[in-house]
Amino acid sequence: MARRGELGARSGHPSEMCSGAPRAVISITAYARCRTYIQAMSTTNNRAAWIQGPSARCETIPEGALLPWRLILLGAPGVGKGTQAELLNRHMRACHLSTGDVFRAAGSRPDCEQSPAMKEALGYMRRGDLVPDSTVWEMVRERSRCLHCSGGFILDGFPRTLGQAKSLKELMDQQRLKLTAVVNYTLPFSEIVARLGGRRTCENCKAVYHVLERPPKVDGKCDHCESRLFLREDDRPESIKVRLEAYERSTAPLIGFYRSLDLLVEVAAKGSADDIFESTFTQLEARRVREVAQKVLVAQEDRQ
Ligand code: AP5
Repeated sequence: MARRGELGARSGHPSEMCSGAPRAVISITAYARCRTYIQAMSTTNNRAAWIQGPSARCETIPEGALLPWRLILLGAPGVGKGTQAELLNRHMRACHLSTGDVFRAAGSRPDCEQSPAMKEALGYMRRGDLVPDSTVWEMVRERSRCLHCSGGFILDGFPRTLGQAKSLKELMDQQRLKLTAVVNYTLPFSEIVARLGGRRTCENCKAVYHVLERPPKVDGKCDHCESRLFLREDDRPESIKVRLEAYERSTAPLIGFYRSLDLLVEVAAKGSADDIFESTFTQLEARRVREVAQKVLVAQEDRQ
C-alpha cells in the first residue's frame, strides 16, 4: 500500500502574480485560472472545484458509482484524518474535500487575491483557532456542487461545530443527499501532539511526511518534487494547544450528534496508517452490506 507521501500532493502553489485590478471580494476564494496548480494535486481526482472555487472545473470526473460513498471524517487535529482520506480516496474514488486545504491554498495566493473574509480566516488558522462558522459555511456553500459529485466525497475537517453540522444536514436534506457514515478517529492526546510536532509538509506540492514515522528519503526534501519541507505554522506547540482546546470545546460534541443519527463509526487511530485504513474500510463495507440487505428486504415487503 502506498504511503501518504506517495499518494501525490494535497494542493499546489499558484504561479501567477496580481495584475492590478482587485479580484472579486464577495466570494471567499475567488480564483480559477492556474493550470500548474491543478496538475499538482491528487492523482485520482484533482479537486479543482473544491480547492479553487465554484468557477473551476475538475479535469477528472470520477465514473458514477452505483452507491457513491459520502463520508465525514471526525477526530482531533493530527489524528490522521488527511492521511486516511487519501487512502480511502484511492479505494473509493470519492473526492477528498478538506476545508483546511482550501484555507492553506488561499493563503498561498498573492495578498491582493485574498478576500477580506479569507484574510481574517487565515488569522484564526495561524493561531490555531477555528474560523468563524459564517465564513466556513459560505465557503462550503459556494462549493455545494462538489457534494453531488458522481464519485461521492470524503469531508475532512468539516463540519467542526454543531452549527456547521446542522447547516450541512439541512443542505443535504434539501438536496436529497444521504451521508453513508461519519468515521470518528480516536487517539490519546500525547500521541497526537507527537504526530503534529513531527509533521513536515512540502512547500511546493503539499505532500505530508513525519520526521520519524514517515520520513522523506532525503532529510528535509520532498520525495516527489525535491522542494523544501516545512513545519506548518499551526503545528507549533502554542498553536497545537489552542487547536486541541478548540477540538474539545467545539468539535467533540459532534460525536453525540452523529451517533444520534445512527451514522457514527468509531475507529482507533493507533498503529500504522495501513492498519487503520483496513479497519475503517472493513467497518464501512460491513455497514454498507447491512444497508443494502435492509433495502432489499423493504422492497420485497413492499411488493408483497
Ligand atoms: P485542518 O487542515 O483540517 O487541520 P486539522 O483538523 O487540525 O487536521 P490536520 O491536517 O492537522 O491533521 P490530520 O488529522 O489530517 O492528520 P494528518 O493526516 O496530517 O485545519 C487547519 C485549520 O483550518 C484549523 O485549525 C482551523 O483554523 C481551520 N479550519 C479548517 N476547517 C475548519 C472548519 N470546518 N471550521 C473552522 N475552522 C476550520 O497526520 C498528522 C501527522 O501524523 C502527519 O505527519 C502524518 O504523516 C502522521 N501520521 C498519520 N497517520 C499516522 C499513523 N497511523 N502513525 C504515525 N503517524 C501518522
